[in-house]
Formats: sequence, C-alpha cells, structure tokens
Amino acid sequence: KTPLNIIKIKNMKQDQTPISMLTAYDYPSAKLAEKAGVDMILVGDSLGNVVLGYDSTIPVTIEDMVYHTRAVARGAEHTFIVADLPFLTYHGSLDHTFDQVRRLMQEGHAHAVKMEGGAEIADTVQHVVRAGVPVLGHIGLTPQAVNQIGGYRVQGKDEQDRARLMKDAKALEAAGAFAIVLELVTEEAAAAISQELSIPTIGIGAGRGCDGQVLVYHDVLKYTSDYRSKKFVKNYADIGAVITEGLSRYVQEVKNRSFPAEEHVFGGKAAAEKAVET
Ligand code: KIV
Ligand code: NA
Repeated sequence: KTPLNIIKIKNMKQDQTPISMLTAYDYPSAKLAEKAGVDMILVGDSLGNVVLGYDSTIPVTIEDMVYHTRAVARGAEHTFIVADLPFLTYHGSLDHTFDQVRRLMQEGHAHAVKMEGGAEIADTVQHVVRAGVPVLGHIGLTPQAVNQIGGYRVQGKDEQDRARLMKDAKALEAAGAFAIVLELVTEEAAAAISQELSIPTIGIGAGRGCDGQVLVYHDVLKYTSDYRSKKFVKNYADIGAVITEGLSRYVQEVKNRSFPAEEHVFGGKAAAEKAVET
C-alpha cells in the first residue's frame, strides 16, 4: 500500500471525505497509528510537551525532530508523514530554511513539512513549495509564538481577528500550501475559512466545519500520568491507567517474589520435569 499524496489529500476535500490526522513520535506509536488507518501522521513539535517533558514547544530542536521523524518513518512505511519545522528554523535565510527542510526529508524521511504562521511566512512557504516540498500551513493558536500571544487562547473571537485569520489562510493557499491546520479557532471562523479555501483545513479545537481533524496521540489515549483535560479533546482510551496498573503489578510481584515464576525460568527442576513429560 502506497502512502497518500497531496493530490489525493486535496481531492478528499472535493469528495467531502473527512481527513484523519494524528501525531506520532516513535516507532510503536507510528506503527499503531498506521494500523488504525490514519490518513496522515504528524510528527509534531508537541513532542516537546508530551514526550520530552518541556512545558512548551520552544526548546524542541531540529535534531529532536529528525531523530523522531526517522523513527516514525520506520514504523509507518505506508502513511503520509508530515514533520514540524521547530522554533526559529524557518525565519532566517532561505538557505538556512532549506537546510532544515532537507534534514527533515532526507534524514527524517518526512513527505512534507509544517510551518506555523500566516501572511508573514507566505514568501518562505512559496519558496519551499517551489523547491518541490509539500507544505502544511498552521494558523490560529501557534504554540511556537506562545510568548507573543500571551497564552494558549482561542483565536478568531472578534471580527477583526476573523478577518486576520482569513487573510492568513488565503496567503498560505496562494503560496502553495497543500492544506492548513487551524488550531484553537472558533467554530464559526474555522467553518468560514474552510468554505472559502479550495485546499483542506485540518482542525484541532476548531470545530465541525473543518475538512479534517488532527489530535495529539497522547491526548487521544490519555497517555500520561498527570493528564490535564482539554475541552477540544476526546479521550478514546485511558492508556495511562492501564500502564500504571500493569507496572504496579510488576513491581508488587517482584517485591513479593511471585515473579519470576516457574514458567519463566530456564534450566533447573521445571526444565527437567518437562523433559520427562515429553
Ligand atoms: O505539534 C503538534 O502536535 C501540532 C498539532 C497540534 C497540529 O502542531
Ligand atoms: Na506543532
């Protein structure tokens, strides 16, 4: 099975087929995401929050992204993989930006890259697209700019903000982005952008009017020990509880010497008995 491509992804909007996207950060998560049938995997820089233990995406480096993208590519050989360009890796010279994109694709084996920002990065998006690289846009709440935005707050609440988001979305479409992530945007604003654009919108906390949805793997599965619930997330499993329970039983059984048991042991009495039985 060959991965989706951006032509097919764009066609899904015309066919009104919802696009399912999920983040993954390593071999097992990618393998399971592929097995579940996601249309696209995002190696998000949310890596910083959910895997590396940072409190924002700002500390994530290109090395982190390459390393994790490569692991994801090994786990999901048949899925279209988008990798995030991390903080401040696409705002300098074009040569510098190209080098970061090159690393995600040649070393990380991503099929496409994602960049946060609107009209102000449209030139960069256009140059990268002209170099033959599919670019996924990302507007609304853009976590790499959290210190400028002043927190993780919903975007598009007033008319002026909605006009700005629409302008940014159109600038990215004109620059050649194949789709745009809308993060933490009011349903009204996201629906209006989705109707206006010919390329798909992929929402996260952006309501029901988007052409697709993306969520963070660890949010979908509640895969953490200190889960903080978010309104826009639905937990489809509670893996954190399953893991804690399993690990606690392991520790207990080591302590009370019920593990390892006879069936886990090589040689000795059990092996001798087995040899007699057969
Ligand atoms: O890093 C990430 O997971 C993302 C999604 C939230 C869109 O950028
Ligand atoms: Na991201």
